[in-house]
Amino acid sequence: MGEADQIRIEALVEDARVHRDVYASEAVFKLEMERIWGRAWLYVGHVSQVPAPGDFITTTLGLTPVVMVRHTDGDTVHVLQNRCGHRGAIVCYQRSGHAKSGLFRCPYHGWIFRSDGSLRTTPSPRGYEDVGFDRDDPAFGMPRLPRVGIYRGFVFASLSETGPDLETFLGETRATIDNMVDRAPDGEVEVTGRVGHRFRHRNNWKFFIENLHDAMHPMVAHAATGDAVRQYVEAHPDTDDGRPEAEVIAPFGGSYDFFDEMGFVGLPLGHGYMGGSKSIFSHYEMYPDYLASMHAVYGEERTREILSYNKHNTLVYPSCTVRDGIQSIRVVKPVSVNETVIESWTFRLKGAPQDMLDRTLRYSRLINSPASCVGPDDLSCYDRIQEAAETRAIQWIDLHRHLGRDEQHGDTLTAIGTSDLALRNQYRAWLDYMVVD
Ligand code: FES
Repeated sequence: MGEADQIRIEALVEDARVHRDVYASEAVFKLEMERIWGRAWLYVGHVSQVPAPGDFITTTLGLTPVVMVRHTDGDTVHVLQNRCGHRGAIVCYQRSGHAKSGLFRCPYHGWIFRSDGSLRTTPSPRGYEDVGFDRDDPAFGMPRLPRVGIYRGFVFASLSETGPDLETFLGETRATIDNMVDRAPDGEVEVTGRVGHRFRHRNNWKFFIENLHDAMHPMVAHAATGDAVRQYVEAHPDTDDGRPEAEVIAPFGGSYDFFDEMGFVGLPLGHGYMGGSKSIFSHYEMYPDYLASMHAVYGEERTREILSYNKHNTLVYPSCTVRDGIQSIRVVKPVSVNETVIESWTFRLKGAPQDMLDRTLRYSRLINSPASCVGPDDLSCYDRIQEAAETRAIQWIDLHRHLGRDEQHGDTLTAIGTSDLALRNQYRAWLDYMVVD
């Protein structure tokens, strides 16, 4: 593959296969950062991470370092490029903290910026007098991202000035976010801890989001874990199926029929989800205090409605995946063509008893952490495909399964859970972003 401007992107994706260069070409990765990550709405964080004026977190959107900060007005949350308007140095190195009086000081020459990104002062200001320097020129500040949007406390930003508004972009995935928040008796969630887990993958960013809805792998890649759970359940027939650990892990040893019935829904812009009526986390009888607090706020019928809405995983393409029923979000951080960091964040349901948070943390520990029973199985599979793509051991990645059997409902495609539609739908969006006139 040659330089970015020589790539024939259209030739890399066909109906039932994608070329290995989508995972292994540095030129393709560079274009992805510009055309997908530079245009889509990307998940930044949650407002509960910056509760007081001057509170901030730092992160990256694609390869762009940013600061999310609560402005000194107490209401506005700004997302700024973490770059100094003087010569471009990174301003904030901490992952989170509090900027006293809402001011950031660049560690190189000491320029000071307000929490809206504007330049406040420079040391020894006489050097800038009568030299044509305009302190109020935004170019000398920490640039504000062109678009920032907040949906029910979840902060998204776009590096592009144009495109659909946040609610239009999120589309049907808003229902998953709504459901996560509605599960809180107080109607709000908040982040727990500074970060749940940070999992470094030595492979391309797309493997993680493709695997999320690849329902053909759990019964093979996670067979050892699934078998162990089944053996435990058989050895303890006197206890019910609602045991916490079994509830979390058992589906990873589920049958092909289990995942087929779960189904997949492919939404516009690469978003999608599995599950709905059939998924995991439907045992609430073991949490009577939680049920009582929900009944008190919503009544029994609405509580049943909220808790039976049970999607397995919702992908907000390309930057995050949401589990409403377990209150967790995983965030995709591309580093290079063959390096990615997956962050796993957990949320507390405000007004819910502690055992609901324990349940969320248990899931994160058992499934999402680098030392979990499940995540390393997946990682070893991604690594093998990355190696095959880089060494040219293969030319194409196959996507034939149940090709041509999708059902179309407006701009949505549905299929049984083990269909490769889940991946084909992502590449439908990938092409739309990547091919520009
Ligand atoms: Fe920041 Fe010079 S690079 S003050």
